[in-house]
This record gives sequence, structure tokens and C-alpha cells, in this order.
Amino acid sequence: MDKCVNPIGVFDSGVGGISVLKELVKQMPHENFIYFGDSKHAPYGTKTLSEVKHLTINNVQFLLEHGAKAIAIACNTATSAAASVLRNMYPDIPVVGIEPAIKPAVLYKKDSCIVVMATPMTLKQEKFQILMHRYENMADIIPLPCPGLMEFVERGILDGDELDRYLTKLLGFLNHKKIDSIVLGCTHYPFVKAAIQKAAGNGVMMFNGGEGTAREMKRRLTEAKLLNNQDKEGETSFINSLNTKEELNLCEYLFKS
Ligand code: DGL
Repeated sequence: MDKCVNPIGVFDSGVGGISVLKELVKQMPHENFIYFGDSKHAPYGTKTLSEVKHLTINNVQFLLEHGAKAIAIACNTATSAAASVLRNMYPDIPVVGIEPAIKPAVLYKKDSCIVVMATPMTLKQEKFQILMHRYENMADIIPLPCPGLMEFVERGILDGDELDRYLTKLLGFLNHKKIDSIVLGCTHYPFVKAAIQKAAGNGVMMFNGGEGTAREMKRRLTEAKLLNNQDKEGETSFINSLNTKEELNLCEYLFKS
């Protein structure tokens, strides 16, 4: 059978990776997708490295058993913890990850102040340290761990007083520093972008890595001659490890938002 018609497997620790899925569908509307959200084990960002590696490998095996022709790690935390392990395990399968979009933020404005919002694990990993050091002479880069923020999105809370209070307190740690841009370094955060913008102020630019991940996936599939050339639009199916009606409804809601 022609492997091109097989779906692209996309996963995250929960519903956040749907922000990346939306970019993937936008750039490759003829592809089929299978999205796996591991909400049962969320959050990943406050777990140990070996726990996240183990969960990530399980997620990929699950997607491959469902016929995935390529894997998008739609989670910054899982990418920083396990992308290289996965590439070694599956050298013949395109595996594309996501990383905080520091480069476009640096290029946006010279000598700017850039806050990188991400999970504690993403910011702790060597992968992020290397990325940050690459640009540290070109901008003032401030990593801001956000434990607890992805949980709002997992609960379907995308605005409101509780979230506003959390964000005001979080950004308060920056002591009124003049911020030029915020990098949304966790795939859950684009869903609360409006609330973050409100807390940070209107002049602050926002960046996220989803678009770059989708572009890279398209490039890898083209190179591997794995693009789906069907005329009709592709289909997307959702699986969540919590497997409740509410969780699947939330997936559909975020996907259409
Ligand atoms: N969505 C994930 C990320 O991009 C992680 C959230 C979590 O599980 O802590 O990092």
C-alpha cells in the first residue's frame, strides 16, 4: 500500500499540541493526521527527565502502531527531553520537534528584551541552554518557567480572573522590565495568548514555534517523497489517554478555535 496516505502522527502531553496541529493542517491540508494527547500523564514539564523520555517513547510507539508515516513532537518539553533518542530509535521515519522561537524574536528587533515562557523542564535542558547561548549576544533573553500555566488550558480555561491573576503574578517576577517580545515556548500557551498579551501589555510581540515545525515537516515529507497528493482535504482524528467525552470535546473545540 502507498504509505503517503498514512497519517502524520502528532502528540503532546495533552491538548496543547493542537496549536501545532492547526499549523500543520494549514500548511498541508491534504494530509491525514492522528493526534494523541497524553492528558492522563500531564504535565510533563515538572516530571523527571527519565519519566518524560519514557512517556514520549510510548507515545511514538502508539502512533506508529496506528500507522503514522512521520512524527511531529508537538511539545517543547518532550522535544528537549527525547527528540535525539527518538531519531536514533527510528532513523527511517521523519521525526520533527518544536523549540522555543527565539530566532524570529531576536531578528524582530535589535538588542531587545525577550522573555521565554516555557515549562521548567524545557528551560533546564541542555538543548535550550545551547539555543539561548547562540543568541545571548544579540538580545537580553530571560527564561521564565511557568509551572501551572498549561493546567489552565487542560481545564479548558482560556480567559477569566483566575488566569489573569496567575499571569499578573508570573510576569510580576520580571520587576517591570521593559519587555519587547515573549516567546511562547510551550504548545499550550498560544491558546491563552490573549490573556498573556493583556498581562504583558499591547506593545509586546508574541512568537511561537508551531509554524516552523510545520514548515520543517513539509520539507522532510517532500524530501522523503511521503507527501499525500490526494485532491480532497485530509482527515484528523483525536485520541486522548484520558479518553473522556469532555477531553475529546475540548480537543475539537481547540482545533476549531
Ligand atoms: N505542551 C508542552 C510543551 O510544549 C508541555 C506542557 C507540560 O506537559 O508541562 O512544553
